[in-house]
Amino acid sequence: MSEHEQDAIVEDGSSETAADQAGHEEALHVEAPQETASHLHIDRYEAAWIRISVGVLVVFMIAVTISSFAIGIQLPGVYDRINPNELYEPGSPFAEPGLRELAPGKYEAYFRGQIWSFVPNEIHVPVGSEVTFYVTSQDVQHGFKITETNVNVMVLPGQISTLKHTFDEAGEYQIICHEYCGQLHHTMYATIYVEEDAPVADAQ
Ligand code: CUA
Repeated sequence: MSEHEQDAIVEDGSSETAADQAGHEEALHVEAPQETASHLHIDRYEAAWIRISVGVLVVFMIAVTISSFAIGIQLPGVYDRINPNELYEPGSPFAEPGLRELAPGKYEAYFRGQIWSFVPNEIHVPVGSEVTFYVTSQDVQHGFKITETNVNVMVLPGQISTLKHTFDEAGEYQIICHEYCGQLHHTMYATIYVEEDAPVADAQ
C-alpha cells in the first residue's frame, strides 16, 4: 500500500465519517420535532373533552361573576360578633329587635333566636321591600330559614348573621328554625307578612 493510497483511505474514511456525522445530525434534526410532535399528540375525542371541560369552567366563572356583581346574589355572611350575655345591654339592637325602615322600600330586621321562639314573632312589610336581616341567638344554635326564598342562615350565639332579600310577591312567609335546638325545636317559627295593599310608595 502506497502513502498515496493510505491518504486516500484516510481521506475517504474521514470524509465518510463527516458524512455520517452530517447524516446523524440531519437525522437528529428530523427526529427531534417528530418526538415533540408525538408528545403533544392529543386524540381528537380527548381534545374535544378538554375543550368542553374548559368551556364549562368558563361558563361557571361567568355565571358566578354575573350573579355576584350584576344580580347581587351573596352567600350568607357574618356581619359582626356580639357577646350573647350582652344582648339586653342598652344600645344593643337585639334588646328590642324588630323592623326598622331605612328608606322607602328598604328595611332592616333584627331577630333574636331563643329557645324556642323568634323575637319578633312577626313583621309586616309592603310588596317590593328589600329587607336586610340581622340575626343572633341568645342561647344555643338555631336556624333561620325563610320559606320560598334563598334566606337560609345558621344562628349562633356570639355571631350576627346577615342576609338580604327582596320580597316581590305578596303573601305569608314562614321563618323556621331548621337547626335542631332542643325539645320544642319544631315549634320555633315566625311569620313575615308581605302586604299587597301597602305598596312601597305609600310606605313613607
Ligand atoms: Cu331553634 Cu330549632
